[in-house]
Amino acid sequence: MNISLSDTLGKVNSNDFEIIVYGLGYVGLPLSLRLATHGFKVLGIDTDARKIQSLKNKSLESSHIELEPMLKETISSGKFLPSTKTVVSKLPRIGIICVPTPIPDGKVNSETFVFAAADEFLKTAKKGDIIILESSVRGGTTDELIKKVKSKGYSTGEDFGVCFCPERIDPLNRKWKLENIPRIIYATDDTTYTIAQKIYGPVNNSNLFRVSSPKVAESVKSFENAFRLVNISLVNELAMLETFVSTDPIYIRSPKRDDIFGIFEALMNIPIPAQDGEHMPGFRGYRGGYEIEFVILSEVV
Ligand SMILES: NC(=O)c1ccc[n+]([C@@H]2O[C@H](COP(=O)([O-])OP(=O)(O)OC[C@H]3O[C@@H](n4cnc5c(N)ncnc54)[C@H](O)[C@@H]3O)[C@@H](O)[C@H]2O)c1
Repeated sequence: MNISLSDTLGKVNSNDFEIIVYGLGYVGLPLSLRLATHGFKVLGIDTDARKIQSLKNKSLESSHIELEPMLKETISSGKFLPSTKTVVSKLPRIGIICVPTPIPDGKVNSETFVFAAADEFLKTAKKGDIIILESSVRGGTTDELIKKVKSKGYSTGEDFGVCFCPERIDPLNRKWKLENIPRIIYATDDTTYTIAQKIYGPVNNSNLFRVSSPKVAESVKSFENAFRLVNISLVNELAMLETFVSTDPIYIRSPKRDDIFGIFEALMNIPIPAQDGEHMPGFRGYRGGYEIEFVILSEVV
């Protein structure tokens, strides 16, 4: 049965639809279980057959052990169905892509898994369906995804919705977690955005910041990733200084991981447009015979 995006909205309101999450890893599994615990029907697709079997057996790797009660509950209630393959359904469907986006190595490019998951969804898709991309992708990927959807004969924004709503989870961050971190989102049309708001209700209380172009959403996510990478690498490099040898490398945190001086909070959340070495006494480019490349580079920049 082919239905419009407005029909899909009606079906979402009466909970007569399905969500398919592609990639049941660090990002996709907690998301799936949260949605299924809320009462949505969630099919979890992963290419790793061993992982699917252990999820069916209600068992989790130690890294995800805190999710076990939710897994047991949602498998028993039939709200969460793990599988390696997507099968045909008459219900409207929302596919959420949470697969890896590796650094290209000649064999795979960053989007190899994203487009494989999109192809898997599109094999059984129909009018009225929606794809939400959560993986961290390079600029231009959402437009390529829209082109792929159009090449199957759909009119995006009219009979098929596409969103880019990148996951922003920051492992070990005590303040910002899946359930309260605000998200940026691009949606092809208003109805798709309204549906996305309903999907993200049980995820982060629909704390979504809508932007009008996929490139803006992609740039925001890339900026955040670059910002985190630089700050984490800087702290790692500073941790190698003689001053910090034989002390806890993340010395400004207490054993309880408290950020005693609020420094990590500042590093992760407030962009500093310029950094003058004078404001960092003792942290010039050379110290104790060790070259602090990040600080030298910062002075050059
Ligand atoms: N881990 C983080 O802290 C974090 C934070 C924000 C964003 N992200 C982004 O989220 C995305 C997913 O990251 P992750 O950490 O969950 O990865 P992960 O490696 O933990 O899990 C990915 C899962 O996807 C599966 N998979 C691979 N190809 C597939 C396909 N075609 N269909 C279905 N399943 C497939 C893998 O078997 C694996 O189980 C990446 O783009 C990552 O950059 C990660």
